[in-house]
Amino acid sequence: MHSMLVHAHSGLRWLVLIFLILAIVTAWGKWSKQTAYPDGKLPLLGFIFTHVQLLLGFILYFISPKVQFASGVMKDSMLRFYTVEHIVLMLLAIALITVGYIKAKKQIPSPLGHRTIVRYYAIGLALILLSIPWPFRGLGAGWF
Ligand code: HEM
Repeated sequence: MHSMLVHAHSGLRWLVLIFLILAIVTAWGKWSKQTAYPDGKLPLLGFIFTHVQLLLGFILYFISPKVQFASGVMKDSMLRFYTVEHIVLMLLAIALITVGYIKAKKQIPSPLGHRTIVRYYAIGLALILLSIPWPFRGLGAGWF
């Protein structure tokens, strides 16, 4: 169960990254062409994949051996990363993406919605990239 969820959470990161990048790039293009928002499903797909990842992350947070609350956890960089840093920064990133998506929805049919998506999704994406336990960070995680 745990290993299956870790693989799903790990693999889903690529869909999250791909769809956030596609949503940002296309929203940028649509903002410059001043088309009405929404124009396509990419902001919605980026939003959905990010929230599925949030759900898997929450389940993992309760069952992962890398999440611990015993004293001394803060001295171990790997335990501290998964118990505190990963969840805090990812929640912030997902909150920004959520706010951006809702704000853009309220701007329908103005082209301003595309600009809102670019701004909020880009900051969210930057935080996600910073908080992923990439293999070269020595946090015991893989590429998939
Ligand atoms: C877009 C958001 C997120 C991305 C891209 C992401 C990505 C990842 C990746 C790549 C791993 C390493 C998997 C491996 O070992 O190969 C991981 C582990 C983990 N993530 Fe996330 N994560 C996200 C959000 C969250 C959130 C919001 C939580 C908690 C609520 C969370 C909890 C965890 C936990 C507990 C682990 C360690 C699992 C284990 O090895 O036992 N993640 N995450």
